[in-house]
Amino acid sequence: MTIFPLDNFKELKTPFYYYDLELLKKTLSEVNSASDYPGFKVHYAIKANANPLLLSIIKEAELGIDAVSGGEIRAALEQGFNPAKIVYAGVGKSDEEITLALENEISCLNVESFAELKIIEEIAKSLNKIAPISIRINPNIDAHTHKYITTGLEENKFGIAPDSLEQMITFCSMSDNLDFKGVHFHIGSQILDTKPFELLCDFINRLQESYKQKGIIFRSINVGGGLGIDYENPDQHPIPDFKQYFNIFHENLQLENGQELHFELGRSIVAQCGSLITKVLYVKEGQKKKFAIVDAGMTDLIRPALYQAHHLIQNLTSDGPEEVYDVVGPICESSDVFGTDERLNCVRRGDLFALRSAGAYGEIMASRYNLRALPGCFAK
Ligand code: LLP
Repeated sequence: MTIFPLDNFKELKTPFYYYDLELLKKTLSEVNSASDYPGFKVHYAIKANANPLLLSIIKEAELGIDAVSGGEIRAALEQGFNPAKIVYAGVGKSDEEITLALENEISCLNVESFAELKIIEEIAKSLNKIAPISIRINPNIDAHTHKYITTGLEENKFGIAPDSLEQMITFCSMSDNLDFKGVHFHIGSQILDTKPFELLCDFINRLQESYKQKGIIFRSINVGGGLGIDYENPDQHPIPDFKQYFNIFHENLQLENGQELHFELGRSIVAQCGSLITKVLYVKEGQKKKFAIVDAGMTDLIRPALYQAHHLIQNLTSDGPEEVYDVVGPICESSDVFGTDERLNCVRRGDLFALRSAGAYGEIMASRYNLRALPGCFAK
């Protein structure tokens, strides 16, 4: 259970992100023990949060990195992550980003189209390098998650159709500058049901079997990320069920001897250790509702406005009787709402609220809209 260091908070300028580093360490140790199967390799999806305070702890736990831009590759290298543990995905890699990846000899480029593969070949040839390649396949599996964060359906822009895989492998095998390592998948995010992951395993087993008959073995399989967290009960479930998650793949996926199985987990590693701390500016008696107007807005945490997400809200500085409030930010947008009809201990100006489970896709997605300052951070 996260205990908030309120004495520290009182001296800090709000809004800011608070990170519970002990919880992050416990989470990582659970990830490492639950994934302790032959060939399993876990990467942290740095898109979820690239705060150096968190990255240094993640590096100590010896995870690799999953990057989706040159900026993320650079952030990982600056933090001292081993390039041999960095994988790089994305539908629109620029020539500069491909060059950066090849020059730094990262472990794999996850390729999302034939057009991209041809450009990587050209750039690798000009640099006299051999590009390590995995091909991202769209398995058409419905992860039943929010439409903005589902990625594995045929209508999504990600990956290639399974039918195009063979010609891309052939292209790799005919090039001196491409090394085909295997296949990559990612079916979506905030997945709480085991079924989509089981379906993914079945899909991969069938794919492997058909390619084995053609004499092609995948040296590496990457199943992406996507494991969800409990946004409503962060203190009851501070650490996701990693045992169950890795076990699904251990039990269902038929790995060949020596084959590597890569994971790219973002949210499940960092979400629960972070909270957005914000101060109440005003309590406003509206015509029909009572509003708690806080100094954080959608610029600091965009998930509620963008995905209709809900982060548990707690009043950290009041134990008065509960009352019902809409919790809103100061931005000039009607979507700048963190919660409607929230039951909170009686709110006064100056109270501090915690918006929980905000460690993933919180600070990193902050913007300067309305020319606001970016949120600060404090870790303990
Ligand atoms: N691998 C790939 C190729 C991805 O696209 C993603 C996330 C991950 C791994 C990590 O997924 P995770 O384990 O975090 O579910 N901003 C949204 C989430 C976007 C996820 C994008 N891709 C949100 O706040 O819910």
